[in-house]
Amino acid sequence: MNALSPKTIEFIAKPKQLLINGRWEAAVSGKNFSVTNPASAEVIAQVAEGDKEDIDKAVKAARQALESSAWAAMTPSDRGKLIWRIGDLILKYADELAELESLDNGKPFTVARAADVALSADMFHYMAGWATKRHGITIPISASGGNYHSYTRLEPVGVVGQIIPWNFPLLMAAWKLAPALTTGCTIVLKVAEETPLSALRLGEILLEAGLPDGVVNIVTGFGETAGAALAAHPMVDKIAFTGSTEVGRLIVKAAAGNLKKVSLELGGKSPNIILKDADLELAIPGAAHAIFFNHGQCCNAGSRLYVEQAIFDEVSEGVAEIASHIKLGNGLDPQTQMGPLVSNTQFNRVCGYLDSGYQEGAKAICGGKKREGAGYFVEPTVLVNASQQMKIVQEEIFGPVVVAMPFNEVDEQLIQKANDSIYGLAAGVWTRDISKAHQIANRIKAGTVWINCYSVFDAALPFGGYKQSGWGREMGAAVLENYTEAKAVTINIG
Ligand code: NAI
Ligand code: MG
Repeated sequence: MNALSPKTIEFIAKPKQLLINGRWEAAVSGKNFSVTNPASAEVIAQVAEGDKEDIDKAVKAARQALESSAWAAMTPSDRGKLIWRIGDLILKYADELAELESLDNGKPFTVARAADVALSADMFHYMAGWATKRHGITIPISASGGNYHSYTRLEPVGVVGQIIPWNFPLLMAAWKLAPALTTGCTIVLKVAEETPLSALRLGEILLEAGLPDGVVNIVTGFGETAGAALAAHPMVDKIAFTGSTEVGRLIVKAAAGNLKKVSLELGGKSPNIILKDADLELAIPGAAHAIFFNHGQCCNAGSRLYVEQAIFDEVSEGVAEIASHIKLGNGLDPQTQMGPLVSNTQFNRVCGYLDSGYQEGAKAICGGKKREGAGYFVEPTVLVNASQQMKIVQEEIFGPVVVAMPFNEVDEQLIQKANDSIYGLAAGVWTRDISKAHQIANRIKAGTVWINCYSVFDAALPFGGYKQSGWGREMGAAVLENYTEAKAVTINIG
């Protein structure tokens, strides 16, 4: 096991407070909650338990900062440089952030370093550029009664509430904060109760970068209390949420009070389709990566594997072979390839889905059960003998469990099956036939389609869902829509 760096030990030992108006504060109630390491189920830190009153303070700080000269009058160039600096500092502290992520979430340090932390820095660096490059337009209009000059201004939507999950704690904070900052909004970020540590370290980084007071406020606490208060707060102009579809619905209801703008990034049950002409040396490890990356705790996980009958055994057994060699363990052990699930709740949820699959007649050809002992480990699992209506095929498992199902040919039925889901977040297609690849990609109802690859993310690419996978897009230029109001100004120039 790698020892923790002195910086991480020092950070863990500090009190973990709320970031409100540029200062670290205890919760109004004085309460804290425990954070556990899912690899051992041991408590590693106490964190301030923010609630309604803390959210209210944070929202007021954000409201004040929105109009402050320090933020509202900052030039786009300076705003861009500041956001770039945040990206640089994330890279400077990459090891520390990756250690916190591994301790808190369970994921391997090496993965956190190479994926979560690197992509978080990318997100700030990419969004920094938009600060100076997004602008309104002039529009020739045909209205009678005058001679008009019309133009649009893109203004920040205002105070933004952001609620994020635990599967990529730092990266989800980056996906949310960076676009809101580049457009000039101010923010109250409510991080997941399972994994608050890296966002608190990010809060220190934001201050070090020179972000004016109150522009980003960070509240740790529970969803039903702090999260619900943020979603309902009348002084919040927009709410951005990533998490379960069930809570997404609650957010929409809570937002109705003052009709705040809403964007949602929710669940998925993504089809990953392998045709018989695919390069299986790519497709088999690709299908394993599609489901087992981050222990299957990805909204875009390729959890429904549809394989053409002629190659079904070869592919399902190939994926099972890879799964059976994945080394489970503590994320700080350099040998570890897969850590535990994030919490006891998620562990029980995933085990419940395995049981339901077995009861409905599915069979595991590898893994298939929890690992005995401390920590929330579930073996990487490939299920076969499944049919489309089973719960394990319809519902998001959010664990290292893929359901492999054969299909006869690329026809209407295959497309129907792929689209037979309440979700529409992502999909994969593996084939050497470029026409078929395009035909399938065009017909899949999903916000992202990967062809001969999977889980390729980039700050420049929009990501989000059709159907119940959400509203709006994250990343790319598309996300900026979430955080701006377009104002049309018309002048009668006579
Ligand atoms: P969740 O949706 O309850 O939690 C996500 C965030 O929402 C957390 O910050 C939580 O505190 C907050 N939250 C919870 N209840 C809230 C409420 N009433 N009002 C405002 N905020 C609230 O997700 P959970 O319970 O952690 O996981 C359950 C399932 O959700 C997973 O098994 C998975 O299927 C799905 N999920 C999807 C994610 C994605 O990336 N789309 C991420 C995490 C979970
Ligand atoms: Mg929940």
